[in-house]
Amino acid sequence: MIGEQSFPYYFGRDCVAEIGAAITALGPDKLVIVTDDDVRARYRHHLDTLAGSIPALILSHPSGESMKTLTCLSGHLETALRAGITRRSVVVSFGGGVPGNLAGLMANLLFRGVRLVHVPTTTIAAMDSVLSLKQAINSGVGKNHIGTYYAPEVVFTDVELFTSLPDRELRSGLCEMAKNCLAIQPSALDGLRRVIAAGELSSPHSLLWLLDASIAAKSAVTRSDTFERRAGLVLEYGHTTGHAIEICDHRVRGVAGLPHGAAIALGMLVAAHISHARGWLSDDEVSVHYEIVTGLGVEPALPASVSVDDVLAVIADDNKKGYLPPRPGTVPFVLLRSLGRPALTGDLPLVPVEVSEIRAALDVVARASAPVVVG
Ligand SMILES: NC(=O)c1ccc[n+]([C@@H]2O[C@H](COP(=O)([O-])OP(=O)(O)OC[C@H]3O[C@@H](n4cnc5c(N)ncnc54)[C@H](O)[C@@H]3O)[C@@H](O)[C@H]2O)c1
Repeated sequence: MIGEQSFPYYFGRDCVAEIGAAITALGPDKLVIVTDDDVRARYRHHLDTLAGSIPALILSHPSGESMKTLTCLSGHLETALRAGITRRSVVVSFGGGVPGNLAGLMANLLFRGVRLVHVPTTTIAAMDSVLSLKQAINSGVGKNHIGTYYAPEVVFTDVELFTSLPDRELRSGLCEMAKNCLAIQPSALDGLRRVIAAGELSSPHSLLWLLDASIAAKSAVTRSDTFERRAGLVLEYGHTTGHAIEICDHRVRGVAGLPHGAAIALGMLVAAHISHARGWLSDDEVSVHYEIVTGLGVEPALPASVSVDDVLAVIADDNKKGYLPPRPGTVPFVLLRSLGRPALTGDLPLVPVEVSEIRAALDVVARASAPVVVG
């Protein structure tokens, strides 16, 4: 349930045939399956199973963030229209967050809205992006600047698909899941600790638990906030600095740069240090951040490719600008007063943070090469 919108989310193991049968039961005249070239090559048979006897148009693009563009979107839209899709057709995303976002926008734009089904194949997509109505592509100016909100009919996840994910991609999604535990549902932290301690991040049993916990945490804040513009802004925890670190790192290292979730994990450390310096988070609560982030395999230090000045320059363009009255020299941030309790301005979980506070926290993370002892 996301605000006024609700949709079922089914998940299980080894269930692609059942997913195909459920898609057929929607009665589409045609499927438009949006995927990327790597997923398509790896899961060719699954694509056949998903489509069953329904005529399917497969729209595929090279994998990665660089495809979240208007050019790629417009190419897919034109191809779908030329293939004769109708209002009864269903757009199916089969892949990570990139095909998911492109499919979401396509479904919203075609005939002003056709049915959308998500079949996420990455932990980021399954545990984070499909639990949001946000659908966006990147502009030349920044990430996710062109977008809309659109709800799927239904989401289907087969956790078996995650077993082929490179370790860094698997962990990337789990960092977003950890963010939801730290910022929204600290009661799930013990379960996450157990999964980390058992070294079983990729076992189907653990993945089913992690998925369940992600759905619970994320829907707790989006239930009353369809557009993630009020309580749901807490989901941006770690993102102000995390996005900036990701952008700076990718400028230098390209696709070899930090995965999205790892960058967000570093952003959470920065946010935790700012909250600690304000006297909000305790030493222990900052240490919990380090315990979880390092437990998920993220080196708790800025990569050598990223300078504090560059990160601060990118943060100035953060897409949460405008939520708070403008105050020169400050940036709106999600900060925690304690685990699971964001600091509020009115009813918004955002507070203005001085650039000097961000710099001080970034300096701590930039200097670190091992877990920082606070206090
Ligand atoms: N809408 C939202 O609220 C929201 C939330 C989080 C992330 N996102 C977006 O999602 C994107 C990141 O998601 P992502 O990491 O899934 O990106 P992605 O789609 O690029 O997938 C990452 C990589 O994993 C590969 N892959 C996918 N499934 C695989 C599988 N089962 N086995 C092996 N490899 C596989 C892909 O080919 C790709 O190379 C970003 O664009 C981000 O903005 C959106």
